[in-house]
Amino acid sequence: MPISFDKERRIFKIDSLNSTYAIGVFRGEFLVHLYYGKKIPDTNLIHTAFRGGFASISPLTASTADDGYFSTDIQPMEYACNGSGDYRLAALSIKDSEGRSTTDIRYVDHKIYSGKPKLKDLPHTYCNSDDEADTLEIYAVDKFTGAKVTLCYTAFKNHSIITQSVKIENTGTEAFEIEKVASCCVNFPSMSYNMVNLYGTWLRERTAQTRHLAHGIQSIASKRGSSSHNHNPFVALVDDKGGEDYGDAFGFNFVYSGNFAIDIETDYMDCTRLVMGINPIDFTWVLEPGEEFQAPEAVMAYSANGLGEMSRTFHDFYSNNLIRGTWKKKKRPLLINSWEGSGFSFDDETLVRYARQAKELGCELLVMDDGWFGVRNSDNCSLGDWYVNEKKLNGPLSKLIERVNAEGMEFGIWFEPEMISPDSDIYRAHPDWCVHVEGRDISPGRQQYVIDMTRQDVRDNIFNQMYDVLSKNNIAYLKWDYNRPISEPASMSLDKKHQKEFFHRFILGTYELMDRITSAFPNILFESCAGGGGRYDPGMLYYMPQTWCSDNTDPIERLRIQFGTSMCYPASSMGAHVSACKRTGLETKAAVALWGTFGYELDPKHLTEEDKEIVKKTSALYHKYYDLTHYGDLYRIIAPTEDEFKCAWSFVAKDKSETLLTVIIKNRTPHNFLNVRLKGLDENKMYQNEADGEIYSGALLMNAGINLTLGGDINGGMNFMVYFKEVK
Ligand code: GLA
Repeated sequence: MPISFDKERRIFKIDSLNSTYAIGVFRGEFLVHLYYGKKIPDTNLIHTAFRGGFASISPLTASTADDGYFSTDIQPMEYACNGSGDYRLAALSIKDSEGRSTTDIRYVDHKIYSGKPKLKDLPHTYCNSDDEADTLEIYAVDKFTGAKVTLCYTAFKNHSIITQSVKIENTGTEAFEIEKVASCCVNFPSMSYNMVNLYGTWLRERTAQTRHLAHGIQSIASKRGSSSHNHNPFVALVDDKGGEDYGDAFGFNFVYSGNFAIDIETDYMDCTRLVMGINPIDFTWVLEPGEEFQAPEAVMAYSANGLGEMSRTFHDFYSNNLIRGTWKKKKRPLLINSWEGSGFSFDDETLVRYARQAKELGCELLVMDDGWFGVRNSDNCSLGDWYVNEKKLNGPLSKLIERVNAEGMEFGIWFEPEMISPDSDIYRAHPDWCVHVEGRDISPGRQQYVIDMTRQDVRDNIFNQMYDVLSKNNIAYLKWDYNRPISEPASMSLDKKHQKEFFHRFILGTYELMDRITSAFPNILFESCAGGGGRYDPGMLYYMPQTWCSDNTDPIERLRIQFGTSMCYPASSMGAHVSACKRTGLETKAAVALWGTFGYELDPKHLTEEDKEIVKKTSALYHKYYDLTHYGDLYRIIAPTEDEFKCAWSFVAKDKSETLLTVIIKNRTPHNFLNVRLKGLDENKMYQNEADGEIYSGALLMNAGINLTLGGDINGGMNFMVYFKEVK
């Protein structure tokens, strides 16, 4: 059993493949965190909770005051509460009916069972069969308010993964307000960690940043209404003597697409607490007697061998236990998207030409991006009017799709369902449907407003419009975009008591619409997008198996973005295309895009005959390396943020029988020596370099490396793709 309860010591031991997480019930009522790290066999852990020498001014919890040594001020509380003597980051704060925020939960009971429960109305990871994981539910109660808190942990047998979620029920007689409800609260008895997080902005998403923990609080968060371009809901803590391939690495990722906060506090005892959950700013939730609130899920990955293995743990877990549906393991089509090539300027003939020319280059699906609906010929109108512009397409959509299909290509389409243009029929009919504060100015972003997803009537309207287009046409792919953050957050449908629920209700509404659409059209391949990668999170991956990584398709700038993205998201989810940007030749652009889902974002009519031959060859590489890049293990070898000149990564087959090494030269090097040590091979296997037939042992390739030095200069923009296959 991955989860057990030591009755004598009153300790829960939660074991994943290679990690143990332990919680103690001190004095039968206080939940204290005892351990998280490499798997251990026994439970003699209670000593880890005690910290000597706390200040005499620290409040002593009343029922333990006689002992004189238990204070929530310093103890590693498993789910820290606000206002009852713990002054570090709180996981929970509940305001009672008299406006007081003192919260104090105590253990009452627990349950351990096989499998993993579903989370109501929220995306979540899942078990493919109940024997994959065990779940522990710990029940704790704040007697004063009647708040019953369920801490729900699931440990996976085949992955070093533990998930946690939290549910609050009001079992009392008065309503109360949840001011803060975190999804996990993890304590570490040290601050010897580097924190790794993914920051950025539009066109520069998810750059990995590393810093040492310092005394005080270090935070990343979003208040934009979406998980955002600026901070991804991911943090890793890695041993400060470790790194990519060495040392303890703990990864935390939030299965949520809205406002979040990940706060890490180090205290005066040099201990660390990490709290991750819905951002408490702009959030309160009123819970009436008998109601419950489900907080989203936190995913925790552990590796004793650094960030690289932690990332591979996330990749495998998300590929098997988060991504769902028809396309989970089905080969994705090689697509071409019209956006960067034609923008809003297209008609039926343009698209049929795209299809014909792209087919010759090896493409399988054409995506008609923004501009096919309402009267949209620029980004200043028509969002929300999801009916086909038959004038622009010279007839019904079905006719265009028939023509595209006749060229041997499938057809994909673009929607931005959560948006509304002020210049649209839907806005003119329902001005109250946009997110706004009555009487205040509404701040436009990309000349559009956000539609109020908290409202059922709005969601029904958008669903019906989308259903109409999707059910009447042979659509194989849908890109679901979201192009601006929320401002003036409020809904006309909420009264003043519930207005602060807006942001979370918005996301719940989005998830409901995504669930309805993806369930109604299970065979469509969905790709989420938010002005590029503004909503690349596990919440989205639950509904849609791939995410457009960034609007930045410059292959050199993409390196930072894709490296950062790979911290927790699998290559099979990472939308990456070859575009017409001029920085490098087509081969290098393809080498970078082959890391992800792969496709083209250009007008084929601008390709020269020579270009076309290159594109045909790289399309063939997509098929050749598909299994390796989609189902193999990723090894980051040289990070673009660490080396001024080059960057390298590889994919290794699960059985270690083949590997594809990619090296990109970012800038001209001052020397011509390029030697790269491979990773993840079997030392004892022999591998043959497909290009020149040379044979090397795995041990040699990983220790001596492969010399890629050329006779001439090694110039910026060059790429090396070296494929090795096992020889017996
Ligand atoms: C966003 C997307 C782009 C494209 C445009 C269309 O910016 O990220 O790929 O779809 O919208 O307006």
